Amino acid sequence: MSHFESATPSSVVRVSLPSKPPFGYDIPIGRGLRHCAGEMIAAVHKPCRALLLTDDTVEVLYADDVTASLAKIGFSVVRHVVPHGEASKSAGTLFSLLEAMAKEHMTRSDLLIALGGGVVGDLGGFASAVYQRGIPFVQIPTTLLAMVDASVGGKTAIDLEAGKNLVGAFHQPSLVICDPDCLSTLPANVFSDGMAEVIKYAFINDKVLFEALLREVHDCMEEIIRLCVEDKRALVETDETDVGARQLLNLGHTVGHAIEACSDFTISHGSAVAEGMVIITRAAVKMGICEAKTLSSLVALLVKYGLPTECPFTAEQLYAVALSDKKRAGGTITLVVPFGVADSRLVTVPVDALEGYIRAGLAED
Ligand code: GLY
Repeated sequence: MSHFESATPSSVVRVSLPSKPPFGYDIPIGRGLRHCAGEMIAAVHKPCRALLLTDDTVEVLYADDVTASLAKIGFSVVRHVVPHGEASKSAGTLFSLLEAMAKEHMTRSDLLIALGGGVVGDLGGFASAVYQRGIPFVQIPTTLLAMVDASVGGKTAIDLEAGKNLVGAFHQPSLVICDPDCLSTLPANVFSDGMAEVIKYAFINDKVLFEALLREVHDCMEEIIRLCVEDKRALVETDETDVGARQLLNLGHTVGHAIEACSDFTISHGSAVAEGMVIITRAAVKMGICEAKTLSSLVALLVKYGLPTECPFTAEQLYAVALSDKKRAGGTITLVVPFGVADSRLVTVPVDALEGYIRAGLAED
């Protein structure tokens, strides 16, 4: 049941986390909801000082809408803008943000609002996890990738020189406001990047989503986002801290992260995940775990949504980098392996078996 009366989301997904207050949060999804952000946030947090964190691209597009809506309800808004791009997930940017929060005399009864894509959400989430040992935060994702994945589930982090997301915390948002109208300003390649994560959900375990993706999705993005968020909700509720079923969300990511790193991050996350999904699926076909037509379906969907399916690196290069993957535990690594469309499973293998998977997944014949 929605908390929101005058704002009208087309759907509200509730993430229930019964073990600790506030026991979960809502994810209202609907076109134009950014204009009602103040009212929606006031339903979960009384008006206070709110630091609106955004980047220099999103600020120009959407920060005024959100600020006006917050001010109308009585929030006192302070804006903090970081440069767009992964480089802002750094210790330097984090500490500037924390200093700004302190300078504004923010307390634990104040609020951080992250308006932007995955970088802003991860940075803002982590700042709110550690500032005064934790203050509440709200996510307003503006990219497809952030709407369907990064803004939901409480993973927050910054990067180290040694790798991405190596310092972080689980810190759940109080609310995630998802306004698909924000997708209209995304460059085509950034939209495609998000579609890689959408296709991932279909391949993990969602036949309905898979069928929907075979049609034209541009007119039904609210429904596509809702299906993905429902899938993520189920995994987060089962395994909030990523020690079991939530790891299914890593489909294509072990090899994908290696591809990103080998390319010195010139290959985007979505493109790398697309290539990673093809490699692990082709390996599964070669090993007799999955039918060849599953691989053809995956490749066809990726091509339809403008994503690459071929990887420019060798098995040796990818394996060397994949060894430092966070999903490795001692001598084993847990891979997500498609057994069919909408049927991916966790398979734990000795680390040195990973090279065999990559080698099989790269070879076309
Ligand atoms: N992005 C994967 C997860 O939230 O677990």
